[in-house]
Amino acid sequence: MATTGEMGDNRVVVGITGASGALYARRVIELLTAADVEVHLTVTAIGRRLLFDELDMTRVDPDALSGGRGAFVTVYNDNDLGAAIASGSFLSRGMIIVPATGNTVGAIAAGITNTLVQRAAVVTLKERRPLIIAHRETPLSHIDLLNMQRCDAAGAIITPLNPGFYLRPRTIDDLVDFMAGKLLDLLHVPHDLQTRWEEKVRE
Ligand SMILES: Cc1cc2nc3c(=O)[nH]c(=O)nc-3n(C[C@H](O)[C@H](O)[C@H](O)COP(=O)(O)O)c2cc1C
Repeated sequence: MATTGEMGDNRVVVGITGASGALYARRVIELLTAADVEVHLTVTAIGRRLLFDELDMTRVDPDALSGGRGAFVTVYNDNDLGAAIASGSFLSRGMIIVPATGNTVGAIAAGITNTLVQRAAVVTLKERRPLIIAHRETPLSHIDLLNMQRCDAAGAIITPLNPGFYLRPRTIDDLVDFMAGKLLDLLHVPHDLQTRWEEKVRE
C-alpha cells in the first residue's frame, strides 16, 4: 500500500474479543498485512479462548493469523495498559475490533478501560480516528442498543457481523470475505475481494 507512514497511515490497531467469529479476525488480519499494513494486535483473555475454540490456536500466532506475514503483526499483552497502543501518541489509521463483544462495547460506551482493547478503543475515539466495531451477538438487549448508540455518537462505526446474501455465497469463506471486505472498505484499505454489489442487467 502506497503511504508515507508518517501519520500512521500504514498502521491499524486490531482488537480481538471473546465473541464468536475468530475467522473474521484472521481474514481481516490476512488482508491488512497483504496490503502491507502493520497490524498492532491485542486479544482479550476470552478472545484467546475463542481463537482456540474456533481456530485451534493455542497462542496468539502472528504467522497463523496473517497467512504467513507475521512480520507485519505486533502482538501486545491485553493486560499491559502501558503498551504503545494505549497512548494517543501512537499514530494509526484507526482501530478495528473484530469480533467485538457486548461486554467490550459496554465498557467503551462507559469510558471504562480495564483491558488494552478497551483502552486503545477509547483512545481512538478521543483522537477522532476511525473506530470500527464489528459486533457479534444476537438478539440485542436494550442495554446493547444504548451502548452502541453511545459509541456511535462518539464517532465509532458499529458494523454487525451480518453478511449479505446478494452475492450468492457458497462457502463459509465467502461469508467471511463479504464481511472482511466491508471492514477493509471502512478503513480505506484496498483489497481484491469481489464483495461489492453491482446491479445485474435484467433481460
Ligand atoms: C464460546 C463463547 C462464545 C461467546 N460468544 C459471544 C458473542 O458472540 N458475543 C458476545 O457479546 N459475547 C460472547 N461471549 C461472552 C463473552 O466472551 C464474555 O462476555 C466476556 O466477558 C467478554 O470479554 P471481553 O469483552 O473482554 O472479550 C462468548 C463466550 C464464550 C465462552
